[in-house]
Amino acid sequence: MAGFQLKTGQWWCDAVALETLANEYGTPLYVYSRARLEENYHLLQTAFKALKPHIHFSVKSNANGAILRVLRELGSGFDVVSAGEAYRALRAGADAGSLVFAGVGKTESELIFALDNHLGWINVESVQELELLNRLANERSVKPQVALRINPQIEADTHHHMATGGHRSKFGIDVDDARSVLLQASQYLNLDIAGLHVHIGSQLANTGETVAALQRVLELAALHPIRNLDIGGGFPVPYRPDDELPEPAVFAEAVQQVLTAQAQRSFEIAIEPGRTLIADAGALLATVQYTKVREGRRVIVCDASMTELLRPALYDAYHHIVPVKDSQPSALPADIVGPVCETGDTLGVDRELAEVVRGDRLLIMSTGAYGMSMASNYNSRPRPAEVLVEDRFQRLIRRRETWDDLVRLEE
Ligand SMILES: Cc1ncc(COP(=O)(O)O)c(C=O)c1O
Repeated sequence: MAGFQLKTGQWWCDAVALETLANEYGTPLYVYSRARLEENYHLLQTAFKALKPHIHFSVKSNANGAILRVLRELGSGFDVVSAGEAYRALRAGADAGSLVFAGVGKTESELIFALDNHLGWINVESVQELELLNRLANERSVKPQVALRINPQIEADTHHHMATGGHRSKFGIDVDDARSVLLQASQYLNLDIAGLHVHIGSQLANTGETVAALQRVLELAALHPIRNLDIGGGFPVPYRPDDELPEPAVFAEAVQQVLTAQAQRSFEIAIEPGRTLIADAGALLATVQYTKVREGRRVIVCDASMTELLRPALYDAYHHIVPVKDSQPSALPADIVGPVCETGDTLGVDRELAEVVRGDRLLIMSTGAYGMSMASNYNSRPRPAEVLVEDRFQRLIRRRETWDDLVRLEE
């Protein structure tokens, strides 16, 4: 497969040596492989081919315009959760009709933006939002396509911050409320309520919960003519070398079986993958600043931190970390940490990591999703640059922020 590979004693992104990129652009640096992104897209299309789904890339996972343009060229639509994300997708040339706008707290001005720009679907997450949208649509004499995002009350077996379908989750409309809405759908004169949406979380470990959620949603589809079934994203990716997780094809097969049991009805299917497409097409490069030994373990302080990659601090997430250039194994385990003044600023704990010294480069893998899109300026750290590798060439797709950028919006 294309992407990040160890060849001749060092790591490459396709035909470009990562050490060369680190020297040219500095670190921390996000690097993406266009070829791997394209491969991931085609693999997902193949896995789901029997369902012929509309693919809406989840912009929250990676919002860089160059990445969105590659996906648009592949034929992808976009799942957005704010008007800002919709703005980015439109700016990247997306057709407004290919956008799906979800989000539990869309403001009135965001809904107006969605209506004025004729976004494809608005996924509504509460009865109050539905009423507001109906009024706004009436004022503008438009009739948008609306999907109800259902909270199926199915708790996914994933990190609790990534579960979105359980009893205590803030997302979606409860099944009972959705039932009443669908039975009175004609009352919402300015809304074409024709879709159902469900997304129970990310990094889903088994298909059983997806099937259960879908069954609950399909019971609702019997109450009102539904054209579109958006089954969300969340297909898992192996972050650890030994992770064994169901492939997208296994999800596709399970969904297909549930739908076959509903043979009398046919729906257009939509999916909203984020990490499946971009996680392993991206990696973060860092440089070792200092090393010390404390109580039998190495502390490796590098120049990347929770401000470039929040997932370890936010979700206890694992990202595999290797030296960019092969070196000798070390007898001591390593904690790889950043310079931010927070104890939680760790990128990897208790790792087997080969010997590294000050100046060596580290590769933090599978960080293309929810890496740069969650980056912050905490500790007044300028956000990193991003580079896209296209075969033998690389392109700077976002320059590194400067100290001037940090204060640009202040008095
Ligand atoms: C509504 C919705 N759709 C899709 C996704 C994408 O999830 P993933 O990147 O795990 O595929 C998310 C992620 O949070 C989401 O909230």
